[in-house]
Amino acid sequence: MQIRDIMRSCSVMPVLVIENVEHAVPLAKALVDGGIRVLEVTLRTEAALAAVKAIVDNVPGAIVGVGTVVRPEQFQAAKDAGAVFAVTPGLTPKLAAAARACGIQLLPGVMTPSEAIAALEEGFDAMKLFPAEQAGSLGMLKAMGGPLPQILFCPTGGVSLESAPKLLALPNVGCVGGSWLAPKDMVAKGDWAGITALAREAAALRPE
Ligand code: 3PG
Repeated sequence: MQIRDIMRSCSVMPVLVIENVEHAVPLAKALVDGGIRVLEVTLRTEAALAAVKAIVDNVPGAIVGVGTVVRPEQFQAAKDAGAVFAVTPGLTPKLAAAARACGIQLLPGVMTPSEAIAALEEGFDAMKLFPAEQAGSLGMLKAMGGPLPQILFCPTGGVSLESAPKLLALPNVGCVGGSWLAPKDMVAKGDWAGITALAREAAALRPE
């Protein structure tokens, strides 16, 4: 699946920080049950790669990627764990080359027109606008859509259930990213039903 299709297949890409690998499968099931199938597991914790593997092996229907990739060697490790896409907060020539070499779908982070053009030059036309709120969010995306209409964005960082609909209505937004679908306290408590309810609300932003 190409990254553009992955983006178009979801309304919200949840940004997951999984501290305990035992939370991975019930958390992913809760999100998938609520209609959120594309999951970004951030490589910010020791448990992250094991969490990716556990979800890939045990949660049918989940489309699993990794986030917070900042080192070239992380792409292959993510692919070996079963991830089908990767998200980075920014892009360097080394990251671009490593993603291409390993063949994983990449959603590179950009914040400015120059960074977006550099990513286009590297062959990527789907990008994460990060950090979206600080970058100007709705106004920035509308402005980028003028000279750079070929880029499909996933704004992430400060996006909420309230701000998502206007972003999703833009022609150059494929999906939005956000951590609000898996609040730390709900994950810690194992409130999977509550997380399914949050996922349902998010999935309804763009009914299939
Ligand atoms: C992140 O990298 O943590 C994401 O940008 C999520 O941002 P959010 O917590 O504002 O949704």
